[in-house]
Amino acid sequence: MTRHRMYINGQRTESHRSAWFPVYDPSTEEIIAEVPDSDASDIDRAVQAAAAAFASGPWPQTTAQDRGRLLFKLADRIRAHAPALAELESRNCGKPIVEAEFDINDTATCFEYYGGLANKVMGHVNPVPDNALSFTLREPVGVAGQIIPWNYPLLMAAWKLAPALAAGCTCVLKPAEQTPLSALEIAGYFEDIGFPPGVINIVTGFGETAGAPLVAHPAVSKIAFTGSAAVGKLIVKSAADTVKRVTLELGGKSPNIFFADADFEAAIDGALFGVFINQGEVCSAGSRILVEKSIYSKFVEAMVEKSKRIRLGAPLDRETKMGPLVSRAQYDRVRQYQELGKTEARLAAGGGRAASHARGYYVEPTIFADVDNNARIAREEIFGPVAAVIPFDGEADAIRIANDTPYGLAAAVWSRDIFRAFRIVKALRAGIVWVNHMQPTYVEAPWGGYKQSGFGRELGPWGIEEYLETKQVYINLNEQPIGWY
Ligand code: NAI
Ligand code: MG
Repeated sequence: MTRHRMYINGQRTESHRSAWFPVYDPSTEEIIAEVPDSDASDIDRAVQAAAAAFASGPWPQTTAQDRGRLLFKLADRIRAHAPALAELESRNCGKPIVEAEFDINDTATCFEYYGGLANKVMGHVNPVPDNALSFTLREPVGVAGQIIPWNYPLLMAAWKLAPALAAGCTCVLKPAEQTPLSALEIAGYFEDIGFPPGVINIVTGFGETAGAPLVAHPAVSKIAFTGSAAVGKLIVKSAADTVKRVTLELGGKSPNIFFADADFEAAIDGALFGVFINQGEVCSAGSRILVEKSIYSKFVEAMVEKSKRIRLGAPLDRETKMGPLVSRAQYDRVRQYQELGKTEARLAAGGGRAASHARGYYVEPTIFADVDNNARIAREEIFGPVAAVIPFDGEADAIRIANDTPYGLAAAVWSRDIFRAFRIVKALRAGIVWVNHMQPTYVEAPWGGYKQSGFGRELGPWGIEEYLETKQVYINLNEQPIGWY
């Protein structure tokens, strides 16, 4: 079993206590690595390095072109190692290898996008009156603390690092404790590519002992977080003490809405894909499936039939469509929701541990039908392959149920009637709305939620905004005294 050291100030390092914690393969439940168990002191070391790299040395001297080229090189390196990175990602988080390959490609694409955007950040000339010139400078906010989840480990690292580096920030990234390996792997590229020491720091550890001190640290100017709503709320409170900029992506309970006029086969595929891709461990999972009453019974039946084809298996098997959940804790959590669902609704498919697998955190793709939108399985984020199917009666009813949630990350609507589809698009309170599809995500388009799904937007030009300050510059062109006194 290998020990992977973390990466601070351009050096591989242990935690100052020389403490380690295990990393698992969720398909075998075996320990595959150990990584440093950091605490506030290690976080401080990383933040000091990032603050020093931000203030002096080569990084503040880099041009936007330089930073763009570094990001292109990082993308190239990731592409060159894509098969190995995909395998590592698949082993560590349990996702099917075919999906991990898409993730690694998207990771490289994200670095390429922000590499290209680095020298397209522009200020404005402001049309102030009088004899003056006013313009704005866009400057990096400083040290960015970035805390990411375990469902798309390397891709989430890219969503955070790429815009921050393009903007000229320096970063302290804390991967999820379950899935630190891919971020530690790419840390091995940074020095050779030419990132100065301290510009990117990868610190491993747990949320309370390493994440929380990063949020509280006075030298960190901005926190970017993706994870649970519970932790998001703690972060906002803690960040208040140092008035940090915060962006939060907190998942949801996204509605996937099917009208009777939708293409039936495409709809069934879309309902299953929306909630079962990546084992349902997706922040935008279409976990509430709203189906118009006239097709409801037939729809549930077809979903159940087709869900039997979902092949559970070893993550590295190319035929696998669903791997194990990421951890024992997530497995227990999803199993509890499966049991709860049996008391709240009608179990139509799955509902338990996958009997085919004696080891590993495998659960069955599970479909609950006739779910009341007030049931806990319709309100709480489960983050596993558990669907709640809810009937609705007409457009207004669909909108009412869809919006009756504290969350607002994503939604989808399926219909061939473009008038109706666009009426629904406008009525939905969600940051991302798909029509006749669910889940496609591109770096060019914004990502983030309404309501308690968080605030701020990642990706596209919106993503870099979150790492930029705006400095207003006023230049007096009038050489005379003001003449006020
Ligand atoms: P979590 O929100 O606790 O963990 C996400 C990240 O936050 C990890 O890096 C963790 O170390 C860090 N963290 C935890 N506590 C922290 C704290 N007090 N201060 C700073 N950082 C902290 O999520 P967890 O416990 O892994 O999963 C629980 C549930 O959260 C899931 O079942 C799911 O419903 C939701 N979740 C949502 C995600 C999303 O993408 N929206 C991703 C992961 C989990
Ligand atoms: Mg947690």
